[in-house]
Amino acid sequence: MPIQFDETNLRAVMVGASSGLTDSEIRRYSPLALNALADFRKACEAGRYGFPYLPFQRESIREIQDYAASVKGSYDTVCIAGIGGSALGAWALDCAIRGPHLVQGRFSTTNPRLTILDNVDPSFVDTALATMNPKRTLVLAIAKSGATAETAATFLILRDWLRRTLGSRAHRRIAAVTSRGRGDLAVLAEREQYRTFFIPDNVGGRFSVLSPVGLLPAALVGLDIQNLARGAARMTQVCWLPDLNKNLALRAALLHYLIWTLKNKTIHVVFPYSNQLWGTAYWFRQLWAESLGKAKNRDGKIINVGQTPVAALGATDQHSQVQLYVEGPRDKVTTFWAVKQYSTPGRIPKQPLKLEAFDYLAGRSLAELIEAERLSTAAALTEHGRPNCTFTLDRINETHLGAFLQLMEFTTAFTGELLNINAFDQEGVELGKKFTYGLLGRKGFEAYRERFQLYQKKRRSAVGKESN
Ligand code: PA5
Repeated sequence: MPIQFDETNLRAVMVGASSGLTDSEIRRYSPLALNALADFRKACEAGRYGFPYLPFQRESIREIQDYAASVKGSYDTVCIAGIGGSALGAWALDCAIRGPHLVQGRFSTTNPRLTILDNVDPSFVDTALATMNPKRTLVLAIAKSGATAETAATFLILRDWLRRTLGSRAHRRIAAVTSRGRGDLAVLAEREQYRTFFIPDNVGGRFSVLSPVGLLPAALVGLDIQNLARGAARMTQVCWLPDLNKNLALRAALLHYLIWTLKNKTIHVVFPYSNQLWGTAYWFRQLWAESLGKAKNRDGKIINVGQTPVAALGATDQHSQVQLYVEGPRDKVTTFWAVKQYSTPGRIPKQPLKLEAFDYLAGRSLAELIEAERLSTAAALTEHGRPNCTFTLDRINETHLGAFLQLMEFTTAFTGELLNINAFDQEGVELGKKFTYGLLGRKGFEAYRERFQLYQKKRRSAVGKESN
């Protein structure tokens, strides 16, 4: 198994009974976890949730590879118009395999850059456009709904930018990823003959990284999507095992559920000790927040449940966040993400300087130092009674990354089952989207405009009341 889970520091013997779990607590709730697995499997087999099947969709993967091969060499930039689940997966994949965008090597037609326009900050979009050449850019419009305002606006700008230089040939530089037969992006793609890839209906945005949403951009910048799928497929087999000692996702879900609900840890810090996993931490933040933050349970009862995910980067954030985690409120559980073997050890030169602050490091490696930093932070948290656990990846490559992403998705889905909530909807996000449509005058959303106006009226009268 290329990924290990170390739960020792979640135990009461390590962090005390008010923050840690006892064997008897874990035993008592184990049947609940096995039921969660059985229920989720049944729902998947009935076709309700599709992410577990994505790594096995060979035809879709081949279609993406064929397209990537057909356009190879004709672009030095892949530019995504997409947001949320339609952007974070691509970033996670590229950041993990080719490194954080800030430090990636020189871009060319053999090493294309990935630019993700996942915001409508006009200065950001303008700055990005100024760095791209329409003749060497491939634009991807990614939206499951085919209607998200941010994506629609950014795409209109990109489309116009391409057309101004390429005229009627612009459509050849555009691909769309959306739902089949639903939403205006699909209509436009058909009308203007964009190459189009479809997201299965039963795969939601934040669970779509292994669909064309993540795999298309990944393949276009040269990642091995076959290996991503291979790793994820192997992990899927593990995640279906009805055995808490073998099924990593089910075990992690159960322990997180218990730490959260029995020990009241309402904040979940994910702490990768790897810049390459920084994109994945942001991807996970969305997955955990949107899937598990809900008003109602499945019986319709208001529960307002949720655990706030926080992304921190080791060792950097030891000098920014760890003071709070070690000594602040006892409301957090930390999950470290460790890497056994970095792409290079990062040798520190041997020559001594006869200065204490430098000489103990001479001849060691950055890999040794970052590992010592992580182990020390875990020890400090544990000494202060702060529960923490660790996922360790043997190394970061496509196979292990695919497995890790699938593991995180299963863990999230199982945690949702344990909470008896629907982890796959996002009513809270939808309301904000509808207000925006109403405010900008989209047809069919007049009621949301009126609702927004009422809200503004209430704000004005609230200010009046305060000054009286
Ligand atoms: O997980 C989700 O469903 C959301 O976060 C969506 O990914 C996000 O709102 C973007 O939606 P769309 O892909 O329809 O543009």
